[in-house]
Amino acid sequence: MTDSLFRRKPIVPERREGEQTLVRTLGWPHLIALGVGAIVGTGILTLIGVGADKAGPAVILSFGIAGLICACAALAYAEMATMIPASGSAYTYSYVVIGELLAWIVGWSLILEYSLVVSAVAVGWSGYAAPLLQAWAGFPMALMQGPELGGIVNLPAIAIIAVVAGLLLVGTRESATLNALLVLVKIAALVVFVAVALPAFDAANLEPFSPYGFAKHMGPDGVERGVMAAAAIIFFAFYGFDAIATAAEEAKNPDRDLKIGIVGSMVACVAIYIAVAVTAVGAIAYTRFANSPEPLALILRELGSPLAAQYLAVSAVIALPTVILAFFYGQSRIFFTMARDGLLPAGLAKLSARGTPVRITIFTALVVAVLAGFIPLGELAALANAGTLAAFTAVSLCMLIMRRRAPDAPRTFRTPLPWVVGGIAVLGCIYLFFSLPVQTQLWFVAWNIGGLAVYFLYARRNAVVG
Ligand code: ALA
Repeated sequence: MTDSLFRRKPIVPERREGEQTLVRTLGWPHLIALGVGAIVGTGILTLIGVGADKAGPAVILSFGIAGLICACAALAYAEMATMIPASGSAYTYSYVVIGELLAWIVGWSLILEYSLVVSAVAVGWSGYAAPLLQAWAGFPMALMQGPELGGIVNLPAIAIIAVVAGLLLVGTRESATLNALLVLVKIAALVVFVAVALPAFDAANLEPFSPYGFAKHMGPDGVERGVMAAAAIIFFAFYGFDAIATAAEEAKNPDRDLKIGIVGSMVACVAIYIAVAVTAVGAIAYTRFANSPEPLALILRELGSPLAAQYLAVSAVIALPTVILAFFYGQSRIFFTMARDGLLPAGLAKLSARGTPVRITIFTALVVAVLAGFIPLGELAALANAGTLAAFTAVSLCMLIMRRRAPDAPRTFRTPLPWVVGGIAVLGCIYLFFSLPVQTQLWFVAWNIGGLAVYFLYARRNAVVG
C-alpha cells in the first residue's frame, strides 16, 4: 500500500468482504431513457433565454459549440465507462487512471454538479409551474420566486425536490420505468413547439446575427456577453449522459448497453436542440424572450397559440422531474461510491432493504431544497457547469492517458480519432470554463479549497484503496 497522493484504484475493483453492492436491474432502454431524461430539461426550456440574452441570435452557434464539446466528452465517457464499468463515473475513472488527489477533486466537483443541477432544474420547473399555479389555484407569486425576482421563497421548487426524493426512496426500478414514460411527454412537447413556431420563421429576426461578438467580455450593464459566454451557460442543456455512466454498476449488460445509452442519447439531443434553437430565434425577436422564466411558452403565446403554450407548460411540469430524478440518483451514487472507498464517512453508504442509500438521499434533499428556494437559476446553472467541466476534462484526459498507457487493453467502445476528439474535449471544456462568469469561477475555487481541507483532514487518512 502506498500513501501517495497519486495512489490508484485497481482497474477492476475487487469486492471487499461485507461490502455493499447495487443490484443489476437496468437494461439499455432504461439507460437511454435515463440519458434523454437527464439531458433534455431546463437547459433547452429555460436557459435558451439566458443564452439569447448573452449572444443574440448567434445563440444557435453557442448550441453548436457546446454540443460539439459535450459530444466529444461523451465519446471519451463511453470509452471509460465500458473500460471501467463501476459506480462513480468520472470520480472512479480518475481514481483508476490518474490517482487519488485528482479523483477527490473530481468527486467533490461532481457532488457540486449533481446537487446544483437538482436545484437549478427545480427552479426551472417552478418557472413553468408558477403561472399555472397562479391561474388555477390563485397561489401568490411571492411564494413561487426567489428573492432576486422580488419573491420571498420558491416553494414549488422545494416541493418538487421533496417529491423526487420520495420517488428515489421507493426504489430504482420503479423510478426508472416512470422516467421512461415521462421522457416521451417531454420530447412530444418540443416537437409541438417546433411544429407550431417554425412556420413563423422570419430571417429578419436573425439580424444582426451576433450583436455581442464571439469571446466573453463584460458589457456596459455588468453582464458578461458573447457567443462563448452563452455557450458556457447553454452547456448545461447538454450534459446528463454521465448520469448513465454513474449507473454502470446497476446495468445488466454494461459493455453493450452503456455505449448505446451514452452515444444514442447524446446524438438525439444535439439534433433536437438545434431544431428548437433555430425555431425559437427565427420565430420572434430574441429580446422578447431573453431571460423569461418560461421562454418557449412565451414564444408560443406571442405567436397567438395560447393552447400550445399551455400544453408545453403542462408537459414541462409533468416531465422536468425526470431530470431532477436522474441527477439526484447520480448524486447519491457518487456519495455512495466515495463513502465505500472510505473518502466520506461509511455510515453514508448504508443501503435500505430496497437498495437505496437513504441517508444520502435525505441529506442531499435538504441541502438542494434550501438552495432552490433562494438562489437564482442562472447562478445555480453556471456553478453546476463549472463542476461538470472539471469532471469532463478529467474523463477526457483519462481516456487519452489510457490510450498511451494501455493501448491494447480491451475496450468495448473505442473513441474514433481519439487524439482529435479527446483534444477538442479537454481544450473545449477548459475554454468553456473560462467563459463562465468570473464570480462562478471564484465560487468553484472556494468549493474546492473547502474540499481539499476535507481531503487532508479526513479522506486521505480513511481511504481504503491501496
Ligand atoms: N441537461 C439538463 C437540463 O437541461 C441538466 O436540464
